Amino acid sequence: MTAPTKTRAACLIGWPAAHSRSPLIHHYWLRTLGIEGGYSIEAVPPEGFAEFVLHLAAHGFVGANVTIPHKERALALSVPDSRARAVGAANTLWYEGGELRSTNTDIEGFLGNLDACAPGWDGAGDALVLGAGGASRAVVFGLIERGITRVHLANRTLERAQALAGQFGAKVHPVAWDAIDGLLPRAGLLVNTTSLGMHGQPALELDAGRLPPHAVVADLVYVPLETPLLAAARARGLKTADGLGMLLYQAVRGFELWFGTRPEVTAELYAHVAADLTKA
Ligand code: ATR
Repeated sequence: MTAPTKTRAACLIGWPAAHSRSPLIHHYWLRTLGIEGGYSIEAVPPEGFAEFVLHLAAHGFVGANVTIPHKERALALSVPDSRARAVGAANTLWYEGGELRSTNTDIEGFLGNLDACAPGWDGAGDALVLGAGGASRAVVFGLIERGITRVHLANRTLERAQALAGQFGAKVHPVAWDAIDGLLPRAGLLVNTTSLGMHGQPALELDAGRLPPHAVVADLVYVPLETPLLAAARARGLKTADGLGMLLYQAVRGFELWFGTRPEVTAELYAHVAADLTKA
């Protein structure tokens, strides 16, 4: 008789218990790969976070995703890799060599999705990134890591763009929001990291017709799935990368670390999660 193996489980730690698509993604992979495992949402208040994370295994988990408001604390309570340190926030935790390690998978989510949707995008020249929050930091880090030599960083609050650019050196140029229009003709890659275009938010007012014909347009917003920006870019025949794709690619590494198999982002998975988004 063989001893029963303990089912491996991971979770998403947030507060309040956010409505998240992560369980849908990980359950899909567990099911289609035939892996016995679990992925749950754990609502943990800020005052209980350190105890929960420092005893993650005792709580029954081999690792975790971390979301608002815990990402900075997660970094401080674990051994972060260079990506988590650069972004200043960790979203994925796992055990390795007896230590609780962390990374930030938003960077590989962004890059993996671009590679899948627009191969060769990194040869397109200047990048124009809109927004200077946490998501922008991950995007800019990814662009620099991939060798982009000039990133224009536009933000409504210029000081935030200046502060972010200051952390990355001479390749990142902070610009005022009203400079966007003039930069569009030389943007080989345009990335929206702001909340503009999101359901319930104002649209991103921008003339996609001013982009060069080889431009690639990425939007981190995924509700709606097709933002007005992506619709305008597609209408012009430009290659696009959407926010849902990034969400799916950012989930790959955690699954691999926790369950030991690198899962694939397929059209079927995309349709599965997209169906849930449109139902909401
Ligand atoms: P995240 O961590 O998801 O990046 P965030 O830190 O709240 O979120 O950043 C939101 C981004 O959207 C910011 O760049 C914000 O601009 P400000 O720094 O000026 O606040 C941008 N944003 C939100 N609403 C906007 C609007 N109406 N017009 C222009 N930019 C907007």
